[in-house]
Amino acid sequence: MTFNEELDIKVQYIESVLDKYVPEEEGFAATVIKAMNYSLKSGGKRLRPLLMFEAYRLFGGEEDIVEPFMAAIEMIHTYSLVHDDLPCMDNDEYRRGRKTTHAVFGETMAVLAGDGLLNYAFETACRAFDKLNVLQSSDYSAMTIGRAIGILAGKSGIYGMIGGQCADIEAEELAPEQVDEKRILYIHEHKTAALIQNALMIGAVLAGANEIDLAKIERVGYNVGLAFQIQDDILDVTGTFEQLGKDIGSDEKNGKTTYVSINGLNKSKADVEALSEEAVNILKDMGDGNEFLEELIIYLVNRTK
Ligand code: IPE
Ligand code: IPE
Ligand code: MG
Ligand code: MG
Ligand code: MG
Repeated sequence: MTFNEELDIKVQYIESVLDKYVPEEEGFAATVIKAMNYSLKSGGKRLRPLLMFEAYRLFGGEEDIVEPFMAAIEMIHTYSLVHDDLPCMDNDEYRRGRKTTHAVFGETMAVLAGDGLLNYAFETACRAFDKLNVLQSSDYSAMTIGRAIGILAGKSGIYGMIGGQCADIEAEELAPEQVDEKRILYIHEHKTAALIQNALMIGAVLAGANEIDLAKIERVGYNVGLAFQIQDDILDVTGTFEQLGKDIGSDEKNGKTTYVSINGLNKSKADVEALSEEAVNILKDMGDGNEFLEELIIYLVNRTK
């Protein structure tokens, strides 16, 4: 099987996991739930659940206890996109090949849909507790699940993704020379790498990885996340709407100083490659080995969507 065929099968599996956990569109809250599902079920690369699943496998995980967490991280990521696209933030009209949530449901419902997805992510993650009684292996405890929920919360919050979004938005008001490398790295690490670390670390914790390996996987997430956001900034300049399914030129429109505007396209591309290679090297001797995960990281270097 080629890498692309394997990737397709895995993404289909993730879609089936999400299907198990999406909320029913019923009752007086039906509108907000429709808005949540509109964004959640409109494709996307499903990279974060995929990374979580692969980290879980890397450390020998074989149970379905990871599934509620896979759905949860995609809900949190999707909420971050719904809010990121709002007129008060990046003000974008297209996402995942369709009109953005606020363009279809209005701003009020888009704010609520983001809030709803964030809370529902934790409701969903907590469903892992229900699986404890029926698991084949006794390796899992409520403590392990609790720790994974703690990571889910922390890496998405003020010391993670939300912190990064704060610094990203504030940087729009700064002159380009005020946005130094240190600030750009803070922004990339938090707004993007934190959710990638989140995914990898939860996979590792649920599979029982030790503390040393957990620190290494956090470093892998940092590298992959940074590379991923630099590539996103590159594609904002060089990509097409047809490939990306979202507005291009969004950063320039918002007066954002990006990794690319500071370092230029060539250095940015070289850095994406170097960061990814370093990530793969860290992964090499870890756990049971996971060739697909290594291939995935290299595949992301040349992604066009
Ligand atoms: C977009 O993430 C936001 C960034 C962190 C750059 P993705 O590029 O993973 O978006 P989807 O999930 O595939 O739509
Ligand atoms: C998004 O960064 C990071 C989030 C936490 C959503 P961008 O604003 O560059 O993401 P896109 O380009 O809109 O997907
Ligand atoms: Mg943004
Ligand atoms: Mg944006
Ligand atoms: Mg972008």
